[in-house]
Amino acid sequence: MTETDIRPLRRWFKQYVQSFYSPDADIQAHVRLKEEHTARVCDRMAELSTALRLTTEQRTLAESVALFHDVGRFQQYTQYRTFNDFRSEDHACLGVRILRQAGVLSDLPQSQQELVQKAVRYHNGRDVPADSVEAVNLARMIRDADKIDILAMITSEDELFRILPSPEFGGMAQVSPGTVEFILQGHVARFEHIRTAADQMLFRMSWLLDMNFAWTFQMVREKGYLEKMAAQLPQTDSVRRVVEFLSDYRERRAAATV
Ligand SMILES: [Fe+2]
Repeated sequence: MTETDIRPLRRWFKQYVQSFYSPDADIQAHVRLKEEHTARVCDRMAELSTALRLTTEQRTLAESVALFHDVGRFQQYTQYRTFNDFRSEDHACLGVRILRQAGVLSDLPQSQQELVQKAVRYHNGRDVPADSVEAVNLARMIRDADKIDILAMITSEDELFRILPSPEFGGMAQVSPGTVEFILQGHVARFEHIRTAADQMLFRMSWLLDMNFAWTFQMVREKGYLEKMAAQLPQTDSVRRVVEFLSDYRERRAAATV
C-alpha cells in the first residue's frame, strides 16, 4: 500500500463523515468530535510509525487503520445517541461492517484488507486476540495511538475539548477499593466495576498497563498525563499508591528500546 493507495480512502472517509453532518446540534457536535479525534489519531499513528521505523508500506497500512478505527462511531451516535457500546452496539464490529458494505478497501490486496479489518475490530476489546504478528502489531499500534488522544482529551485545559466524567457516574470524591486493588495487581481496571467518576478516572489511568510501545510511555511522561489525571482525584493514600505504581511502570517501559 502506497501514498497513492491511501488518498481515495481519505476521500471516502471525509465524504462518509460529512453524510452524518446534521442540523441537530447534538449530533453535529458528536460527529465533529469523532472526526477531529480521528484526524489526531492519524497524526499520532504517523509519529508512532516513525518511532518504530516502519517501511512506507507499513506506514500507510497503519494510517488506514487509524483513519477507520472509529468509522462505526458516526452511525452509532446518529442511531443510538450514545457512544456507550454496552447500550448500543460494539462500534468496532459496526465499523468493520460499514467498511465491508461500502467496499472501501476492495482495491487493496486481500491480505491487507483483512489486516485493516482485524486491527479495527481489535482496537477496543479488553485484549488483542491471538493472531498473526502483523495483525497483532497493527492492533497494538492503534490501541496506543487512540489512548494517547483520549488521555489528551481527558487532561485538556480547554474546557470545550475536555472529556467530562460520564454523567451516569457519581462524583469524584469516592474511589472504590476494588478498583484500586485490581490496578495494584497490574490489571487494567474493569469497565463494569466503575461506580464513580473517580473510578472512571482510575480506569483511564490504568490504561498505562495496556500500552505497548516505549514511544507511548514517553508521550505519557512528556505530556504529564498521569499527573494531570491524578490531580483531578481526591488525594487519598490509595490514590497515591496507584499513582506511584503507575508512574514506576511508566518509567520502566519508557526506558525500553521499542
Ligand atoms: Fe474506538
